[in-house]
Amino acid sequence: MKFKRDLLWLVDLEPEDIWELIVTAKKIKEGKIDVSNDMSGKVLGMIFQKPSTRTRVSFEVAMLQMGGHALYLNWNDLQLGRGESIKDTARVLSRYVDIIMARVFSHLDLKELAYYADIPVINGLSDLCHPVQILSDLLTIYEKLGRLVGVKVAYVGDGNNVANSLLIGCAKTGVNISVATPEGYEPNPDIVNMAVEFSKVSGSTVEIVRDPADAVKDADIIYTDTFVSMGMEKEREERLKVFIPKYRVTMDLITSTGKRTYFMHCLPAHRGEEVTDEVIDSGISIVYDQAENRLHMQKAILRWVMGL
Ligand code: CP
Ligand code: NVA
Repeated sequence: MKFKRDLLWLVDLEPEDIWELIVTAKKIKEGKIDVSNDMSGKVLGMIFQKPSTRTRVSFEVAMLQMGGHALYLNWNDLQLGRGESIKDTARVLSRYVDIIMARVFSHLDLKELAYYADIPVINGLSDLCHPVQILSDLLTIYEKLGRLVGVKVAYVGDGNNVANSLLIGCAKTGVNISVATPEGYEPNPDIVNMAVEFSKVSGSTVEIVRDPADAVKDADIIYTDTFVSMGMEKEREERLKVFIPKYRVTMDLITSTGKRTYFMHCLPAHRGEEVTDEVIDSGISIVYDQAENRLHMQKAILRWVMGL
């Protein structure tokens, strides 16, 4: 039996696992751990059902810099696109590659893939969550503020996959999180309930509010994401009408916290929609540090799923 540790959502990770990943990624970034041979002879299969810049490139570069190789596998170019089952694909790929990373529409498809694969499966984003993004974001927050416990993150915008993972990641690591969304666009209610339970253990707070002004009070970080996630293009006009008037991150919203507040975004940004150019191009924006940290965190994740 091969070693099998998946990373499908942060709910499965103990707070200690998250800390270990953050500390390891930081050491890798600082050159304190030599990972150049960790993936020697290993192959990562990367299945993409949606586009990607950061996730694709950071995993591919990480594998290369760790002595391994990554295969880009577009869903529609695989027989999956012609109806081959996920079960058969998982079993066959398990005979060729050592790890699978998949970006899919449905989280259930990802679970099925992981169930039938006998090698580790990493979630590269699903409709439900984006765990690898939030792990590197926690590293970025830790680097900027020197701590996680007691930090306040305000997420303003759509209660989507990124918001869901942010809720779990913050609640597990002692970060206070306040999420402001319009009615009907709240984060997944089961995720919110789990975050509340995790926060009781870590001693942090979880808040879901309507008004961005309430969420950003005393915030160290204001985080947003697109109002129109991949696959939601048909709802674009309606969503922009609901979100833009009240949920766009502007300099006024940032200064209203009354303290030095960093701006975060997982990217890609839709400038002029969820955030103004003024904010994303300003000195308080740490979006490119977030993007860079994806590379360091992917290396820590690859080691972790392989039990290194
Ligand atoms: N943030 C993120 O996952 O970016 P990509 O869609 O470019 O991979
Ligand atoms: N919420 C966005 C994240 C992109 C990285 C989406 O799902 O499209």
